[in-house]
Amino acid sequence: MKQLLLFVSVFFCMEAAMELHAQTKSGDKILVAYFSWSGNAKALAGQIARETGGDVFEIKTVKAYPDTYNECTAIAKEEQNMNARPALSNSVSNMAQYRTIFLCYPNWWGTLPMGVFTFLEAYNFSGKTMYPLVTHGGSRFGRSLDDIKKLCPQTTLGEGLSVSAFDSNPKDNTRVSTPNRDVTSWLRRLGTSNS
Ligand SMILES: Cc1cc2nc3c(=O)[nH]c(=O)nc-3n(C[C@H](O)[C@H](O)[C@H](O)COP(=O)(O)O)c2cc1C
Repeated sequence: MKQLLLFVSVFFCMEAAMELHAQTKSGDKILVAYFSWSGNAKALAGQIARETGGDVFEIKTVKAYPDTYNECTAIAKEEQNMNARPALSNSVSNMAQYRTIFLCYPNWWGTLPMGVFTFLEAYNFSGKTMYPLVTHGGSRFGRSLDDIKKLCPQTTLGEGLSVSAFDSNPKDNTRVSTPNRDVTSWLRRLGTSNS
């Protein structure tokens, strides 16, 4: 009987520890939402999730973008010119539980990919703090911070981080993504890191 009680209490302690893992030190639950075409924002979102214990959500458009760079950029430009809102194929099941949102995206034609516009308009971000991370080929945030403010004025926009595409997804010699040091320091500065 004692052994059973011990097992049950160890089990519940482990459950509680795992639950704590998905929260900041102050107890907020974290969501790491990302959109990525060639994998850079995805790799950085993975690092943020590992180092904060946040839940990951991939922003996916119903219509996939072509694999060829030129075709992808042409479609992305067309969508931007039309101020399109590409439909998304998934949604965050319980956005209300998150107080802290990391939003990771590539700079596309000077701002957010249009699917991220769709994402930002789909939820009420009031009472939440959003930390944007952009990966880019030279233009850093471009107009994206202004666009985030326009799309969700209710959210508190926290300190963002821009990471060059060249530093976004480096692999070690076993082809495992190595953590980006700027991301690690940023998360510590924000007080959202587990370490
Ligand atoms: C459609 C498209 C448009 C882009 N436009 C820009 C741009 O305006 N400025 C810039 O610095 N980089 C631009 N890039 C480069 C990406 O921002 C960069 O490669 C990024 O790291 C890709 O992230 P991902 O691997 O998560 O898709 C563009 C790339 C694509 C595919």
